Amino acid sequence: MGVQISPSILSADFARLAAECERVAGAADWLHVDVMDNHFVPNLTLGLPVVESLLRSVTTPVDCHLMIEDPDRWAPAYAEAGAGSVTFHVEAAAAPVRLARSIRAAGARAGMGLRPATPVEAYADLLPEIDMLLLMTVEPGFGGQKFLDVVVPKIRRARELVKGRDLDVWIQVDGGVTVETIEICADAGADVFVAGSAVYGAEDPAAAVRSLAAQAAAATTASWWCTPA
Ligand code: DX5
Ligand code: ZN
Repeated sequence: MGVQISPSILSADFARLAAECERVAGAADWLHVDVMDNHFVPNLTLGLPVVESLLRSVTTPVDCHLMIEDPDRWAPAYAEAGAGSVTFHVEAAAAPVRLARSIRAAGARAGMGLRPATPVEAYADLLPEIDMLLLMTVEPGFGGQKFLDVVVPKIRRARELVKGRDLDVWIQVDGGVTVETIEICADAGADVFVAGSAVYGAEDPAAAVRSLAAQAAAATTASWWCTPA
């Protein structure tokens, strides 16, 4: 799998969600939907009913990022509703292995998210249980924040862990990913890129997606971790 771009609809117009999703159709690999509960993060967005409606109106696969307490209780329902990928935060999960298994059993890819200060090494043994590791490159909660470059060494260490065990775990970065920072992330080892303001702040969101993808692909080809096909 090459590089993938997952535009975050957090930066889209919530009153016109389906139309906003349509603006990146054909260019985006995923639609990144940020679910926030005002407990795990200090912001409130949308929940399962809105995701269910979106799933009925869009053709691009949906990548749900659950920034919520008690994902053990809530996350499987997003998979059952038809989301292609469901990411919970490990800091909030009571039983991450059981949760990842139930997301997979419901037919979605299981993602595990880490806040910027959460070390990846502590979860190395869980990697075979997941399909994607989400490394937050801002403190979760809001779009439009500045990329935290302190996370870059963790992206590299995560890629080393995945590569060392020959696992097929995608590494997603989320937060402050723009034309300025996407190459740094790709070079370090990320292969799925969430971009909110960099996509929906652009005049032509689909063109912004394509150009971010091209930048990431070029940086990946030149990176330390890319294995030539
Ligand atoms: C933040 C969200 C992100 C956010 C990214 O907590 O998880 O998905 O939308 O927005 P940008 O790309 O603007 O930093
Ligand atoms: Zn997100």
